[in-house]
Amino acid sequence: MSDNVTQFYSELTPFYHLIYPDWETSFGRQANTLDQLIRENWPDRRTEVLDAACGIGTQSLGLAKLGYQVTASDLSPDGVKRASLEAADRGLVIPFTVADMRALSTHHQRQFDIVLACDNAIPHLLSDDEILRALRQLYACTRPGGGCIISTRDYEAEDRTDNSAKFYGLREDRGVSYLIFQKWAWRETFYDLTMYVVEDDGDAGVTTHVMRSVYYAISTTRLMVLMIQAGFRDVARLDEAFFQPVIIGTRTD
Ligand SMILES: C[S@@+](CC[C@H](N)C(=O)[O-])C[C@H]1O[C@@H](n2cnc3c(N)ncnc32)[C@H](O)[C@@H]1O
Repeated sequence: MSDNVTQFYSELTPFYHLIYPDWETSFGRQANTLDQLIRENWPDRRTEVLDAACGIGTQSLGLAKLGYQVTASDLSPDGVKRASLEAADRGLVIPFTVADMRALSTHHQRQFDIVLACDNAIPHLLSDDEILRALRQLYACTRPGGGCIISTRDYEAEDRTDNSAKFYGLREDRGVSYLIFQKWAWRETFYDLTMYVVEDDGDAGVTTHVMRSVYYAISTTRLMVLMIQAGFRDVARLDEAFFQPVIIGTRTD
């Protein structure tokens, strides 16, 4: 399973920012939203953040820009490599390392005020047992009084009766056009996702990059049950706080 995820993100990493019309603006907006959420829920726990699924740094970079001390890791070596370069380009100091969140506490060996896994990282784990394993690790890395922030797609709102396409849109980047879209093929609570990046470099030619991964469409209700099982308290789903539903939980002891 990890191999599939690692390969998917290895292929997607060069294009990942193109998912957003303007990645820089979006990650700034996401950081402001997360900052507000942290201030409201853990007012005295606003210093050290662990981003456990940092990818190319969408949440890590913005939070570091706001003054948080961010430590970041991800399963994808290519994602982590690009995140390190993006941080260096912006003069941000963030220790980035490769780690599977199912072994997070062994890897980081310490606790943080806030632990994050944002933008649908958790549904890459393909069973409740695997997700619980990861959530227990997120819990182990959270300081007493601190919190965990997870965001996922709202799978309860998805129509699973038919395969579907999701369009991200047309992007222009350094004189090259990109058309980005996904196909979802449902298998009950799982779906096979195919991501297409059509790269049109004019006279130089057109290349279609095709990447595939499998997701477990876990409901936020089930995720909240697993968070409580992992030890988190005051577990809640927040809508409209972020661009996806956010599940938060606090480590009380
Ligand atoms: C959709 S991306 C989001 C990345 C980043 N949070 C962002 O918003 O750009 C999901 C991320 O989850 C990571 N991931 C998936 N399974 C993981 C695991 N077991 N441990 C750590 N990271 C994982 C992937 O490598 C990928 O970077």
